Amino acid sequence: MLDKKIARLLNEQVNKELYSAYLYLDFANYFEDEGLDGFAHWYEIQAQEERDHAFMIRRYLIDCGERVTFDAIAKPDKTFKKHLDPLEVGLEHEKYVTSLITTIYAAAFEAKDFKTMQFLDWFVKEQGEEEKNADDLIKKMNLFGSEPKGLYMLNQELAARVYNAPAALLP
Ligand code: FEO
Repeated sequence: MLDKKIARLLNEQVNKELYSAYLYLDFANYFEDEGLDGFAHWYEIQAQEERDHAFMIRRYLIDCGERVTFDAIAKPDKTFKKHLDPLEVGLEHEKYVTSLITTIYAAAFEAKDFKTMQFLDWFVKEQGEEEKNADDLIKKMNLFGSEPKGLYMLNQELAARVYNAPAALLP
């Protein structure tokens, strides 16, 4: 069993990760509509990764003897005027998720819950990568996205993203 506060925060994080998946799938919907299938594919994989994060935290809670409960997942309600908009929303969202992970980590540290800290180490690293990926994408879009050929090439590049399941979820 975990400290009550940590169990609650982790349970809430399952919902946040599922919301993240929902949000990125909404980005994919937007890009499909814009005819940018590579961007849509990139965000579909992003959504799969977020779902994985939810599964990993759910599994951790269960393995710790906790009862996981689900709340409603919020509706993604962003509207986009230009292709850069979802990319910027994505970076801000990742910064927000990093702050959530940091809060749980700090609670685990305070409770001397070294097991949860160790579990969260993967997420701390992952958040660093996700913020960098989101930031890199904005930089590339600013460099190449404003002219059709550049946008086409970037779309091709993003279409090549491959999904890799995290080791923790492999059989
Ligand atoms: Fe699961 Fe993008 O943080």
